[in-house]
Amino acid sequence: MTSKIINWGIIGAGKIATKFATDLNAVPNCNFYAIASRHIEKAETFKNQYNANVAYGSYEELVKDNTIDAIYIATPHSFHKAHSTLCLKHNKPVLCEKPFAMNLQEVEAMIQLSKETNTLLMEAM
Ligand SMILES: NC(=O)c1ccc[n+]([C@@H]2O[C@H](COP(=O)([O-])OP(=O)(O)OC[C@H]3O[C@@H](n4cnc5c(N)ncnc54)[C@H](OP(=O)(O)O)[C@@H]3O)[C@@H](O)[C@H]2O)c1
Repeated sequence: MTSKIINWGIIGAGKIATKFATDLNAVPNCNFYAIASRHIEKAETFKNQYNANVAYGSYEELVKDNTIDAIYIATPHSFHKAHSTLCLKHNKPVLCEKPFAMNLQEVEAMIQLSKETNTLLMEAM
């Protein structure tokens, strides 16, 4: 029996992203495919350090990559709604760092968009 390889993208090359990337490299059937940072040099460094395939200098470029199966959001929580929305609008399943968002209204809007797009949205606990 063969299993599909899940190609992961990460948004935000900060502290917790380094832990996630390290662990991802140890999980069978997962490939750390792409990292997106607001700065391409930072993305390139992260890519090389954690063995990703692709580095992007913007989050918008990453969500448009058709190779990506799932996206881990590792930005500050004040951006979780905006970055989850960006992913879901491109039908990319989301694993979003905790806290999920700033308040109940943001979380409800995120869940609503997940339902509308029929795309998985999950908090990383
Ligand atoms: N699950 C856990 O146990 C756990 C542990 C620690 C943190 N967290 C959560 O994970 C999230 C990230 O935490 P972290 O410690 O990794 O933070 P961090 O080191 O500051 O990294 C956050 C990254 O977000 C990106 N970013 C986008 N817009 C930003 C802005 N305006 N200001 C600062 N950064 C911005 C940056 O990446 P680029 O420059 O590459 O774009 C930055 O490196 C937070 O929500 C935090 O609560 C969870």
